[in-house]
Amino acid sequence: MSDHFLQMNNITKRFPGVLALSNVSFNLRRGEVHALLGENGAGKSTLMKILSGVYRPDEGEIIFEGNKVKFDSPLDAQKLGITIIHQEFNLFPDLTVEENIYIGREFCKNNRWRLDVPAQRASVKEILAKLNLKIKPETRVSDLTVAQQQMVEIAKAISVNAKVLVMDEPTAALTESEIDSLFRVTRLLKEQGTGVVYISHRLEELALIADRATVMRDGQYIDTVDYETVQISDLITKMVGRKLGDIYPRRPPFTADKKVLEVKNLQRKGVLHDINFSLHQGEVLGLSGLMGAGRTELARALFGADPIDSGEIWLNGELTKIGDVHQAIEKGIGYLTEDRKKEGLALGLSVELNIMLGNFPEYSDKFGIVKEKQCEETSQKLVNALRIKTPHLQQAALNLSGGNQQKIIIARWVCKDTDILIFDEPTRGIDVGAKLEIYELMNRLVAKGKSIIMISSELPEILGMCDRILVMRSGHIAGELNQANASQESIMKYATLED
Ligand SMILES: Nc1ncnc2c1ncn2[C@@H]1O[C@H](COP(=O)(O)OP(=O)(O)OP(=O)(O)O)[C@@H](O)[C@H]1O
Ligand SMILES: [Mg+2]
Repeated sequence: MSDHFLQMNNITKRFPGVLALSNVSFNLRRGEVHALLGENGAGKSTLMKILSGVYRPDEGEIIFEGNKVKFDSPLDAQKLGITIIHQEFNLFPDLTVEENIYIGREFCKNNRWRLDVPAQRASVKEILAKLNLKIKPETRVSDLTVAQQQMVEIAKAISVNAKVLVMDEPTAALTESEIDSLFRVTRLLKEQGTGVVYISHRLEELALIADRATVMRDGQYIDTVDYETVQISDLITKMVGRKLGDIYPRRPPFTADKKVLEVKNLQRKGVLHDINFSLHQGEVLGLSGLMGAGRTELARALFGADPIDSGEIWLNGELTKIGDVHQAIEKGIGYLTEDRKKEGLALGLSVELNIMLGNFPEYSDKFGIVKEKQCEETSQKLVNALRIKTPHLQQAALNLSGGNQQKIIIARWVCKDTDILIFDEPTRGIDVGAKLEIYELMNRLVAKGKSIIMISSELPEILGMCDRILVMRSGHIAGELNQANASQESIMKYATLED
């Protein structure tokens, strides 16, 4: 077919113990945005890593602009105009924004050994402006937020004038306005004829940008559909291979009784102001608000990760000082951070060790000897409950798909038997089927008498899962809603109203 300027035919890829791709075909047109969908571990990233020269296929071929191509490295693919923004960032934290964008392709003067700094900087500024990014070219990447780093990745991809641009979950860490600029730029690229492959688990968002979608499941090609006419529910069925029930599983109505946590007049200069609220046993308390409203900052303060200037924290009716993270954990508070990379998945260690990490004291006998069998049983149970896709418990975490790596960290906290769990964006980057499992897990936890604070940017999730919702704005609690009077509108009203 002539309008398919890129075709991947019958691609198969095996890793030890895993058939990651089995006879998968995929095509891309000039100037389209093509969504690549599938559950965690379906093979999306692997297929795109083959397209961009990171991996070589075991079988199959790639035809690009009419020619059969073979890539030995990402550079080979880049030379032909195929670029990828990986799910895991690839920036050098110690270099500046402009150095990262033009690394290996620095602007040089006629004399090849002299950098043309002004020309390069001008070009970087132009790209940053296109993206509406208010970052200086000379900023060190390690000083940027996760979202800004993501935008630098995008800037880098744009700078090479890609014919094919692959974005692997580009919006997972972006704010609303950043997503807007990303979409604006994506449309610009489309108009210029760039073919964009877009991997995301956010199906509603894809409706705004995708022309077609290809669905994968368990390393196999399932179907390609037009986004305009497809029903989201059909897409989900194709992805998970079964009909999903209610995505927000019900639990018995919650009756407030025992307060496990009370926060009084909590302050952190310039960050948190006059925070007052309580959390009951068996409750799921939602923390909503726009990005930057102070939700993560509040979580970090409760967890002892940041100091507070004044205010009181009461745990089970007792005034408590939480000086640092260790004390928080000791007192039964767990925090699943939004930045799960930093939180320390030990990539080289096995799935089992990663789940048990930090949990060994509870799994040792009085001589300090680890009860191996029990560790194995517990981690296997969690792997099953969360449907972590791995050939066995001894697989290195490194070899798991992005979403499955996140599930390991959730498993680690669940295993710890903590009374108060703070979940910060627990389902970000996680597929629909697994989301349901995480919600069910949360329900089981509160049924056992645990309490949960859930931070989420997805309003349907907050509305579907929480007994009560606190809405934050500019570092304070702007409003409280209960299940009966909460709606997307009422949350947004509190989240955006000016004081
Ligand atoms: N280097 C590797 N070694 C061994 N197995 C691997 C390797 N890379 C990927 N896999 C396995 O291949 C399968 C497909 O993984 P892939 O990363 O392509 O999934 P994905 O669809 O991108 O998932 P996600 O939505 O979670 O990112 C998974 O079972 C994964 O564990
Ligand atoms: Mg992936």
